[in-house]
Amino acid sequence: MKITVVGTGYVGLVTGTCFANTGNTVACLDIDPQKVETLQQGEAPFFEPSLSELMTRSIEAKRLVFTNNKASAYENADIIFICVGTPTGIDGRCDTSHVLQVADDIASHVADCNSQPIVIVKSTVPVGTTHKVAERLRGTCAVANNPEFLREGNAIEDFMRPDRVICGIEDDDAKRVLTKLYGPFVGQGRPLLMFDIRSSEMVKYASNAMLACKISFINEISSLCERNGANIDNVRTGMCSDNRIGTQFFRPGLGYGGSCFPKDTLAVIEMGEDANAPCLVNTAVHEINKRQREWFVDRILGHFDYCVKGKKIALWGLAFKPRTDDVRDAPAIDIARTLLSAGAEVTGFDPEAWETFQQEVPDIEIAMDMYSALDGADAVVICTEWSQFSAPDFEQVKALLNSQVIFDGRNIYTPEDMRELGFQYYSVGRPTMEICAT
Ligand SMILES: NC(=O)c1ccc[n+]([C@@H]2O[C@H](COP(=O)([O-])OP(=O)(O)OC[C@H]3O[C@@H](n4cnc5c(N)ncnc54)[C@H](O)[C@@H]3O)[C@@H](O)[C@H]2O)c1
Repeated sequence: MKITVVGTGYVGLVTGTCFANTGNTVACLDIDPQKVETLQQGEAPFFEPSLSELMTRSIEAKRLVFTNNKASAYENADIIFICVGTPTGIDGRCDTSHVLQVADDIASHVADCNSQPIVIVKSTVPVGTTHKVAERLRGTCAVANNPEFLREGNAIEDFMRPDRVICGIEDDDAKRVLTKLYGPFVGQGRPLLMFDIRSSEMVKYASNAMLACKISFINEISSLCERNGANIDNVRTGMCSDNRIGTQFFRPGLGYGGSCFPKDTLAVIEMGEDANAPCLVNTAVHEINKRQREWFVDRILGHFDYCVKGKKIALWGLAFKPRTDDVRDAPAIDIARTLLSAGAEVTGFDPEAWETFQQEVPDIEIAMDMYSALDGADAVVICTEWSQFSAPDFEQVKALLNSQVIFDGRNIYTPEDMRELGFQYYSVGRPTMEICAT
């Protein structure tokens, strides 16, 4: 099939690359000329495991091209996927203007060429948006919704072997085409579920809202644990041994960040406002997530009696989660900004996200390896649970730090181990460990 993917961000580029890998011919269109130039040189504009290798294979097989020329991208397309961003707008609502702009572009192309591609909205959009896209196309093409559930850091694997594929689709021909297109990715317990368009749009928001809710819930319980002398590790283990609760997205820490959960939770709240059906749980989920970061940075400041002027603080991990260089709404941004504005010197290390982070927080000093970030620091703060932080050389850590203080925002170490190693150790929902008197 001949596919056009509009938007070459995390979703569009992975979608285009994976469809090209199963034998389709794919043109990826983006309005960012720099991004397109990078892609035309065969390079991915962001870090995502296995993406570059897969891209190279499809480019060499001449099944994957990149362009910023709309006319050539839309020419002869059987299917057009809209994968552009849907950020939070200035009024707090989901900004669907990029999606609708693409719909207008397609409408004028279709009018010029008399073609009839199937137009599929993959961007996460509020209920009713896919029908707005259909209105802009004035009935000239079949329109469907096909939300994406990939996770950054695991995007290729998630796309190739999804838990399920959801399609909001109300046209029989389009159903047949999508069934064929997704054939190589579904089956063997991975269903292709076809619903009406509005339900499909809602599945995406409801799923993200549920996952965000699990994270805020365990964070709320972790602060109760701290205040009542319980240990969240034990509480979590006890809870997770109930099959109905499960273990995933249920770890205490700095809360969620990234390009999806924060904006999608807000979009659900706004959808509730618009429908006069206030989403109380989601409002609390959002508030708890915000509070979690504020509480953690307050804990750091409190350790220094609210005077960090002249102190040097090292951050381990800057991306919003491991295995990505995406820093959108990363907790490390809020932590770094607060510490810098309080007068601290902040050094950071991340295996992938140093450039993207420095664009957001130019005053941070970036270290080229995890140990040099610690040199002369008065504390280290773990903001992202990259695997290389899980078992460092603690003797080297101690030798480099000016004071033996660890703030573990992701609970990657055990408090007892840290006490034995001689650290003052703060984590989430567990007792703080003071340095043993010798
Ligand atoms: N990032 C994720 O993990 C993820 C997962 C699932 C769903 N989603 C959803 O998928 C959508 C895309 O997310 P993303 O993270 O890939 O976005 P992104 O911001 O990384 O990329 C969007 C791309 O669209 C391009 N673009 C904007 N307007 C355009 C236009 N008119 N024509 C052509 N290109 C245009 C931009 O230049 C940019 O390269 C969002 O709705 C998001 O909520 C994201």
